[in-house]
Order: sequence, then structure tokens, then C-alpha cells
Amino acid sequence: MADSIDWGFWGEGPGTEALGEVSGKRVLDIGCGTGRYAAHVARACGAQVDAIDSSATQLRRALGQYGNTHGLSFVHGDAVEYARAGAPYDVVYSVHALGYIDPDRSLPAIRDALRTGGRLVFSVLHTDADGAGPSETVRPRRAEVRLRDHTPLPVHMWVIAPSLWEELLVRHGFDVEGIEILAAPDAGNPVRCQLISGVCSRP
Ligand SMILES: C[S@@+](CC[C@H](N)C(=O)[O-])C[C@H]1O[C@@H](n2cnc3c(N)ncnc32)[C@H](O)[C@@H]1O
Repeated sequence: MADSIDWGFWGEGPGTEALGEVSGKRVLDIGCGTGRYAAHVARACGAQVDAIDSSATQLRRALGQYGNTHGLSFVHGDAVEYARAGAPYDVVYSVHALGYIDPDRSLPAIRDALRTGGRLVFSVLHTDADGAGPSETVRPRRAEVRLRDHTPLPVHMWVIAPSLWEELLVRHGFDVEGIEILAAPDAGNPVRCQLISGVCSRP
């Protein structure tokens, strides 16, 4: 289980506190992977966490390690379909998963899954390992997902400028709280991430 949420990749920078107070609250982890952060948020923060991932392999690992965790339920499926149908959440978060989903699909569904005033906190790539910075249009680029014991999986990825995330969030019913750029601690590493938070402003 993780000790804190690592929104970047380097074990430093903002941690779980970026979620705000979640004790006793309903929380959704989108693209939970092996469940390490969902287990942490349920156990260490006392939240009621639902964690969803579309990969059967990742979900199997998550259930194997954290399936009996109090306050934590895992769901296998598409996060957008699930969020559209989900009961209201206080907080939705996602660590490096929303970049794989068209934001014009994900953001309206997340807004519908949040109660008014509920928070969305997520991290996405800003600059990739090749040093390619964010796009100035909401178009995906080709990338690869590397999962343990699997050949790399070709995917589309939205690596877009902070101003575009801001525009998208506002368009889909969020007030933007902040967008922070997280840089690798070693100067030679070009990877940067965005940590984005917003509040559902739907009346
Ligand atoms: C880079 S991994 C991050 C996993 C985890 N959040 C972590 O940081 O350890 C991205 C995850 O998003 C999941 N994912 C991508 N698209 C998804 C979708 N539409 N619905 C649910 N999960 C999705 C993938 O299966 C993968 O496990």
C-alpha cells in the first residue's frame, strides 16, 4: 500500500492532502490500477472508496492485495460509463489515468458523479519522456502503456496545455481551483506532470 498519493512519479511534491478532508466521505478513484492509492485513502484517511479500472489484470492484482480492505470496493469497467451511473461522490481523484480518456467524455461524466461542491483532483502528463510538451489543441497523441509482464500497449493519450484543461473544466461545469506543474527532481529528466483540481459548480 502507498504511504501517500504520488501525483508525479518521484515520491515528492504534493501528496494525499491535495484531496482535502476525506474522512467518512464517498470517494471515487478513476483508473485505480493495482489499487495502492485507493487502499491508502480508505485505510489511512477513513474514506469510503470505490476504485475502478478497465484492465482485468490490474483489477485482479488490486483484489488480490486489497480486496478485503474495509471501506474499499473495486469495480471492473469503463470509468466514464460507471461515473455516469454512479451515486453522488464527494471527491473524485485520478492518478495518471484521465490522460487516456477523451476529456469531453470523462469530464461531463465526472461532473454528474459529483455532488455540487464536490472536488475533482487528478494528475496527467504535461511533458512526456521524449521531452514533447503539451498540445495546444484537444487532440490525442499516440503513446504506449507499459504494464508489468505485458508487451507495451498502443494507446491514445491527451497531453494538453493547462489552459486547455482549464477551458474544458469550465465548459463541463467545474470551477478550477489550481493547476500545478510538477517537475522531476533530477534536472536531466524532461517529464513534467500537471496536478489539477476543480470543484463541481453545477447548481
Ligand atoms: C498509468 S495507470 C495508473 C494506475 C494508478 N492510478 C496508479 O497510479 O498506480 C492508468 C490506469 O488507467 C486505467 N484506465 C484507462 N482508461 C480507463 C477507463 N476508461 N476506465 C477505467 N480505467 C481506465 C488503465 O487500465 C490503467 O490501470
